[in-house]
Amino acid sequence: MTADFKTHYGPWALIAGGSEGIGLEFARRIAAAGINLLLLARRPEPLAAARKQLLSEYPVEVRTASLDLAEEALEETLAELTAELEIGLLVYNAGAMHGAALFHDDSLAKARQLVQLNCNGPVTLCYHLGGPMRERRRGGIILLSSMSGLTGGAYIATYTATKAFDIVFAEALWAELKPYGVNVLGLIAGATDTPAMTRSGIDMGEHAMRAEDVAKEGLAALEDGPLHIAGENNRLFASLLRTDDRRQSIEMMSQGAAGMYHLPYPIDIDD
Ligand SMILES: NC(=O)c1ccc[n+]([C@@H]2O[C@H](COP(=O)([O-])OP(=O)(O)OC[C@H]3O[C@@H](n4cnc5c(N)ncnc54)[C@H](OP(=O)(O)O)[C@@H]3O)[C@@H](O)[C@H]2O)c1
Repeated sequence: MTADFKTHYGPWALIAGGSEGIGLEFARRIAAAGINLLLLARRPEPLAAARKQLLSEYPVEVRTASLDLAEEALEETLAELTAELEIGLLVYNAGAMHGAALFHDDSLAKARQLVQLNCNGPVTLCYHLGGPMRERRRGGIILLSSMSGLTGGAYIATYTATKAFDIVFAEALWAELKPYGVNVLGLIAGATDTPAMTRSGIDMGEHAMRAEDVAKEGLAALEDGPLHIAGENNRLFASLLRTDDRRQSIEMMSQGAAGMYHLPYPIDIDD
């Protein structure tokens, strides 16, 4: 990345979900461009490890804060954390689903938590950080979405819906902020090898992308929004999902989700 990158997106970047996986790979590349980092995640240990690693590799400042992006008080916490920082780049990475179940077999609390994390979180951060970017006439926002956001799917109902929200929200902000020199990108990832996915015991098949490749593609596509689908295989799958026959795309997504979590599809109603 060029010196222009730092001028346009510096001096600070906030990565929501920046302690590991795709978020940490974003952090590496952004730090390599000379931009300071504020990393957010829940668990303090991976955050501390990420900070140590980044400081040893790049001459930038790295701050961390342990918080839950799904918490009600996010707005106040964010205001405190960012009061003195000029944030020119926001990457909202947190938001994967862990485990899969039929909507009514899982708790309402879990579904609401995903809505908080994938809808309220991006809205809150984009509002408070994107406004100053618009005033400065420069900056960038990347919202991580998923192939699951392209169509609904059984076993992952709330996840697919919240990830669709992120796609449409990124598109709208792209249209609103582009005239002000602020680049917005909805980055659509498919199966990606991350620590979170490994912990969840998911079977991602042989085509999972590397987290570093997703981050690399995302940063390369930032100026060229509104959307980018990471990976050739995912772009191919997306073209199959882009059918007018929504029943067919829902079928494909449902089969995929069931396969990854070793669940029956068609749904076994005798279970
Ligand atoms: N991995 C895949 O196969 C895949 C596929 C499609 C799309 N994506 C998208 O890629 C993004 C990253 O996914 P991922 O697999 O790396 O898993 P993830 O569970 O979203 O974790 C990524 C980062 O976010 C943090 N995080 C998660 N929940 C958080 C919360 N409530 N509050 C604050 N921080 C939180 C994690 O640290 P803590 O756990 O310590 O909080 C970690 O640093 C997500 O938006 C996901 O939807 C991933």
